[in-house]
Amino acid sequence: MIEARGLTKHYGDTVAVDDLSFDVRPGQVTGFLGPNGSGKSTTMRMIMGLDHADAGRVTVNGRPYRHLPWPLREVGGLLEAKAIHPGRSAYHHLLALAHTNDIPKARVGEVLEEVGLTAVARKRAGKFSLGMGQRLGIAAALLGDPGVLLFDEPVNGLDPEGIRWVRHLLKRLAAQGRTVFVSSHLMSEMALTADHLVVIGRGRLIAEMPVAEFVAHAAGQFVRVRTPAGDEMTGALVRAGAHVTTEHDGALAVTGMTAQAIGDLAQARGVALHELTPLTGSLEDAFMELTHDSVEFWGSGSAPADGSGAPAPADGSGAPAPAAAPAPADGVASPGAAR
Ligand SMILES: Nc1ncnc2c1ncn2[C@@H]1O[C@H](COP(=O)(O)OP(=O)(O)OP(=O)(O)O)[C@@H](O)[C@H]1O
Ligand SMILES: [Mg+2]
Repeated sequence: MIEARGLTKHYGDTVAVDDLSFDVRPGQVTGFLGPNGSGKSTTMRMIMGLDHADAGRVTVNGRPYRHLPWPLREVGGLLEAKAIHPGRSAYHHLLALAHTNDIPKARVGEVLEEVGLTAVARKRAGKFSLGMGQRLGIAAALLGDPGVLLFDEPVNGLDPEGIRWVRHLLKRLAAQGRTVFVSSHLMSEMALTADHLVVIGRGRLIAEMPVAEFVAHAAGQFVRVRTPAGDEMTGALVRAGAHVTTEHDGALAVTGMTAQAIGDLAQARGVALHELTPLTGSLEDAFMELTHDSVEFWGSGSAPADGSGAPAPADGSGAPAPAAAPAPADGVASPGAAR
């Protein structure tokens, strides 16, 4: 279990992490999301005792990292994949780490096998590709068989097979009852991997909740309705208190009413329905919606023109945006708001 309370870190004038409190619990994968520069890596470094907090504290299994007697056996982390001696082989890099924490030598072979590096174990790690370096970093994190694992963008540089492998590995580690905390910018991957989320922007907490809840609240839920009697149905829905917009293909996007209520209303009026589909936006939609006020670095053409709108729509991978997103529920602070 990881517990952060009022965690704060400044670098000169930059507030990298600002009064951040959250828990990462065992038995599930917790995704750590936030725009570039929002403080994810800084937070992870503080958890691993590599950076000192200016205020607040963070503990692993109830203790600050530096008070753990055998840290690698309690918490493993992949923070910088290239934090290796380039002249050392993968095997010797892991063996040196094992010696520092009284970890049996046999464990080195096991983790090399686990990450698929056995064949290149005697090669100089400095010559490894980005993906091989990530695998070696993951092997180092697993070395002490720790109950708490941190991964900062572990799929960075991995090929599709590698990305899938990491997904299954993280889920398996969580299913074994471990605490798994992972950052990533790949929203579709996070949607498949994470159970729970901690979302930050400009160093502050934006949301801490199950993935499904985050998506439902932030991306909005709506019902797609197709009917030959569009005008009549729209009028009836609006009178019943729903909000209706017409999509480009003529379907109605309805918020504020359940699919069941819409179906009943249609039946009462004798209107035929050709489609009645409850839909939720994607995790990417939800992330954009909740973090766009805290994005510091906009690519050209993606910044909100008037400073208030969302960035350019996603590439079509997500569901269509809802007509009107429901108000954020409890637990979702407005972006940048203090918690
Ligand atoms: N060692 C450092 N010295 C000075 N500033 C730093 C240092 N490390 C981080 N920062 C600053 O702190 C802020 C948070 O950085 P951090 O790397 O934690 O963000 P991040 O969420 O991991 O971003 P990314 O998604 O790009 O990896 C940024 O403004 C960054 O420039
Ligand atoms: Mg980072």
